[in-house]
Amino acid sequence: MKISFAKSGLPKAGALVVGVFANRALSATARLVDDATGGTLTRAMDAARFDGKAEQTLSLLCPSGVDVTRVIAIGLGEPGDLSLASLQTFGGVACAALSSGTEKHGVIALDLPADSGLDAVQAAANVGYGARLRSYRFDKYRTKEKKEDKPQLEKLEILSAVGNDAKKAFGLLDAVADGVFLTRDLQSEPANILGPEELARECVRLEKLGVKVTVLGEKDMRKLGMGALLGVGQGSARESQLVVMEWTGAAEKDTAPLAIVGKGVCFDSGGISIKPAGGMEDMKWDMGGAGVTIGLMKALAGRKAKVNVVGLVGLVENMPSGTAQRPGDVVTSMSGQTIEVINTDAEGRLVLCDVLTYCQQEYKPKAIVDLATLTGAIIISLGSEHAGLFSNDDSLSDALTAAGKATGEKLWRMPLGEAYDKQIKSDIADMKNVGGREAGSITAAQFLQRFIDKGTPWAHLDIAGVTWGSKDKPLVPKGGTAFGVRLLDRLVAEQYEDKA
Ligand code: BES
Ligand code: MN
Ligand code: ZN
Repeated sequence: MKISFAKSGLPKAGALVVGVFANRALSATARLVDDATGGTLTRAMDAARFDGKAEQTLSLLCPSGVDVTRVIAIGLGEPGDLSLASLQTFGGVACAALSSGTEKHGVIALDLPADSGLDAVQAAANVGYGARLRSYRFDKYRTKEKKEDKPQLEKLEILSAVGNDAKKAFGLLDAVADGVFLTRDLQSEPANILGPEELARECVRLEKLGVKVTVLGEKDMRKLGMGALLGVGQGSARESQLVVMEWTGAAEKDTAPLAIVGKGVCFDSGGISIKPAGGMEDMKWDMGGAGVTIGLMKALAGRKAKVNVVGLVGLVENMPSGTAQRPGDVVTSMSGQTIEVINTDAEGRLVLCDVLTYCQQEYKPKAIVDLATLTGAIIISLGSEHAGLFSNDDSLSDALTAAGKATGEKLWRMPLGEAYDKQIKSDIADMKNVGGREAGSITAAQFLQRFIDKGTPWAHLDIAGVTWGSKDKPLVPKGGTAFGVRLLDRLVAEQYEDKA
């Protein structure tokens, strides 16, 4: 779908989206449509109980008096609540509505109220951004879907007072959408297609955007002493990988980077502590955190962010086999700390701990944010509304929470503390990899914290509940959500990027 920008007016063809504010207050273009159609829009709103609440939609098919084949009214809510975020939603809802018909050409009319206080260029660009985010589809394996059954929309035009002046601002947002789409692709791919080595190859493709990519194999990791990560992969026929992606965009090339660390379990069968069959297919997206890290690097490089960020992903497959690690095994992590593996299904923390140690030794980062589909327990706590946030640093935590609110990728802070840490004491090693039934997401986070150096601000995002969506949302079609890419792009822009 190609997105372009032009000046306001009534289009001569295609399908047209117009905004309507709360209590049926017509936007300028909606008013033009209503006048040209002899009040059809107003009568239709009555008939359909459409009152302009945010996200409401109403379609007029082939109305006489205008040249377009459909007019779709979309609610914008109270004019005073209008924001860049609500305009993204408007664009997303518009894209979905436009895609349901047969028109190849869609037009969205954006008319800001005079006193909106919004930057008109950003407003138009964000409508396009929302539309682009919603247009995502993963249909490469549907060989029998007929062309006419797929969305027909090829060209989307956004009409506003600023016309094509929105193009440059949109370009920056579009680069973030490119990162989001890469993440969604990686999350959606099944594990037979995307194993650790294939995923590492996807990282290497970022080199053409100027990202420096280093891939470590099992031999390299053995030399580094990464016994925890290697133990998880040892039952798989596929080789484990650790990939480092460096984006050096700050004016000061050698300022310490922000580090992003992602869990990349390409398939989590549970290992010898095997999972039940029902729902096991979902464990193809246990690499969701790595997918976010990779997509974020693409977004930052794509928009040439003025920041130094290093992304690290630990890529493994957790399988049962004759070479698999056993419950009761003791492994030595790169940090030197030993771990009793009580449950081979608590593998994510074993992967992350070695990546965290490597990250701190090599890069001395300003701060670390890790993302992991780490625990089923976080889904019990927070469902799919919020990801769990665990942190040793209040200002990092506050900045992440704010970025979450701004992007709609919401976080909820969970506690850490010594009492929880005691739950992972082991009888024979420095710690064990599970802490019992109580507070399962917190004990997982406590485990990770044991690998964070004193003084390093760190946050852990448990994204198990938000990485895959079972229903469409305005900006996120069902499937892989890429939750975290827009959030962290925002965090970088607000907190870490050089200011112009
Ligand atoms: N990848 C899973 C967590 C998960 C579960 C993500 C459901 C998404 C949906 C993780 O590796 C895991 O298996 N965790 C165990 C930990 C337990 C053995 C302590 C869990 O949550 O059951
Ligand atoms: Mn597991
Ligand atoms: Zn897992």
